[in-house]
Amino acid sequence: MALWSGRFEEGVDDFTQRFGASLPVDKAMYAEDIAGSKAHSRMLANQGIISQQDVEDIHAGLDTIQQRIEADDFAFDINDEDIHMAVEGALIESVGQAGARLHTGRSRNDQVSTDTRLYAKKLCDHLMAGNVALRQALLAQAEANFSVIMPGYTHLQHAQPVLFSHHMLAYFWMLARDFGRFKNAKRAADMCPLGAAALAGTTYPLNRAATAEALGFAGVIPNSLDAVSDRDYLLDLLYACSVSSIHLTRLCEEIILWSTAEFGFVTLSDSYSTGSSIMPQKKNPDFAELIRGKSGRVVGDLVGLLVTLKSLPLAYNKDLQEDKEGAFDAAHTVLDCCQCAAGMIETMAIHPEAMRAQATKGYLAATDVADYLAKKGMPFRAAHEVVGHLVLLCEKRGCQLDDLTLEDFKAESDLFEADIVNCLDLESIVAARTTFGGTGNAAVREQLESAQQMQQKDADSLL
Ligand code: ARG
Repeated sequence: MALWSGRFEEGVDDFTQRFGASLPVDKAMYAEDIAGSKAHSRMLANQGIISQQDVEDIHAGLDTIQQRIEADDFAFDINDEDIHMAVEGALIESVGQAGARLHTGRSRNDQVSTDTRLYAKKLCDHLMAGNVALRQALLAQAEANFSVIMPGYTHLQHAQPVLFSHHMLAYFWMLARDFGRFKNAKRAADMCPLGAAALAGTTYPLNRAATAEALGFAGVIPNSLDAVSDRDYLLDLLYACSVSSIHLTRLCEEIILWSTAEFGFVTLSDSYSTGSSIMPQKKNPDFAELIRGKSGRVVGDLVGLLVTLKSLPLAYNKDLQEDKEGAFDAAHTVLDCCQCAAGMIETMAIHPEAMRAQATKGYLAATDVADYLAKKGMPFRAAHEVVGHLVLLCEKRGCQLDDLTLEDFKAESDLFEADIVNCLDLESIVAARTTFGGTGNAAVREQLESAQQMQQKDADSLL
């Protein structure tokens, strides 16, 4: 018999019971549900609504239920519909009258959102920790390969040489912003709905501030209708997961490209590669591909909840039960992706010679040669044209800019002198980019230091 069976003469059939149940998903929130019930019952007793004996019995009963669940000794039954019913039913069974008083002044509507908010906060903590660990792997690669030069790309065409460390740090900063998004999502979840009851508040003299504080919430949601129907904190979590997942697809896509024979910039360790069932020579970047692929379900989870919430009238509607599965899935998926990406990056071998060999192709010095002329007084547009001609000459001869003689240069402009060779050498080209945030060694050193500081600050904030 359901806990609400009073006004019913018949129950639902087995299929409908299963269809309407959320237990398989929300049993993950058992600890939050028990914590919420303890805080609620303690407050009820302190307000004189139930007796101190009731609250002792309720707490003892809840502790036993928690131990049983954790020992895998609790028989979950789909007839309980959800974790709230399962715990309350078991409590009444074990402590009787006191257990039956627990739900005084409370509805599953404020209860479920309280539990979900607590669980979402926990997920955000895990996501922030996973994010920091992944950033550590990027930092370590940047530190270990600080002065390695690689071609920088625009349109996936050779553009200008950059430091590999600079490239790694670009991902560090993307992920550092993801950390901020997880932190914001945690803040959004950090308000307590408990005491809103079904939708309108209750006739009991509840102390909402007390339960909010006992559960570690920053505050109390000021509108009972909003308290039971708001799920934007899950949208915030899903959005943060989606952006992070998309960032990971960009990183993984590059790793996949870099590990091809065409690039040969990196070799993934055997532990982050797989073979082929038919082609004996194959070593595939399966895990990078899988992380790239998993973004589909994470973004799908975000879109799913957006659509579920669209046009939903106030206050609680059963549609809202669809909120948890996608949100939990997205969070766990991104957590796993971060862990996998961290191991993959930590263990991947970098091939500086291959990066350098590519950086000597594709006229990566062209901008610097144009800047050389412009610094000698030629308008930049005219200098751009001159260097365009030099590149065309190289194309026709099948050579690179540093194969040209001083005479070749002078034939295009007499501003060229012997010191033009300084603009053709990769180290000088990179080092010359002294702008704050640029790829010059000094600027990247400074950048690396601020990245390390931010990493320390974010890691400390998790302790
Ligand atoms: N299982 C429900 C959910 O996850 C709990 C709230 C049910 N409330 C109700 N009035 N049916 O949303």
